[in-house]
Amino acid sequence: MRIILLGPPGAGKGTQCKRLVEKYGAVHLSSGDILRAERAIGTELGKKAQNYMDSGGLVPDDLIVAMMVGAMKKAGKGGFILDGFPRTVVQAEELDRALDKAGEKIDALLNLQIDDAVVASRMTGRRSCPKCGAVYHIENLKPRVNNVCDRDGMELMQRKDDQPEVVANRLKTYHEQTEQVIGYYENKKPVISIDAGMEIDDVTKAIFAELGKLKTK
Ligand code: AP5
Ligand code: MG
Repeated sequence: MRIILLGPPGAGKGTQCKRLVEKYGAVHLSSGDILRAERAIGTELGKKAQNYMDSGGLVPDDLIVAMMVGAMKKAGKGGFILDGFPRTVVQAEELDRALDKAGEKIDALLNLQIDDAVVASRMTGRRSCPKCGAVYHIENLKPRVNNVCDRDGMELMQRKDDQPEVVANRLKTYHEQTEQVIGYYENKKPVISIDAGMEIDDVTKAIFAELGKLKTK
């Protein structure tokens, strides 16, 4: 299965992707997670991406496309869930070109919809595992032990770009540049809109139900 998962910051892309990969066995490819890993080990790409990420803007298309096409090649034949990529129409066009070349295709785009007003509290309460990327929330999705990852016992961290002023900019960037990507796919692929304002488990159920219909078509 090859899926694109889009939605504003805090829509729950990372949270839902973890569940999708468990069910479908595809590889989770989050452009944001890959960039954070590059930064953590201090690569050239990580250094170039730093200022864009910290201000809530987008990293230049050429860097992102090269990074994601490389990651897709490594994913193998089991498929992938693209989380937060493509985020511009140029990235979408480049993705199409790369998939054509590889003889692969996207099955559907999942569009997680949520009001900007709901995003703020999700962002301030988010905590993530620096090792495995598991995502928690101090109220909505607590780890078993306070501030410790259930999977590997690492201390959880707060993302730098979750400060309110950066979140506001990320939302602005989303509306100005990424929403157009939904329009780009509308006549090309099934575009499935999901109400991401529901409880986490209900969002998962809605996604599985929609993907189930798709597979039986
Ligand atoms: P990225 O890491 O992709 O950030 P984002 O898109 O802003 O999305 P988030 O990861 O913040 O939110 P999410 O939707 O994954 O929500 P989550 O599941 O964590 O990108 C970071 C930066 O990298 C970008 O700003 C940009 O600079 C750069 N970048 C990345 N991709 C790029 C690209 N393609 N092109 C150019 N630049 C790129 O959930 C959030 C919180 O809410 C969690 O605490 C969770 O527990 C909680 N939660 C989730 N669902 C629910 C629910 N239903 N109810 C209640 N709480 C919930
Ligand atoms: Mg995420």
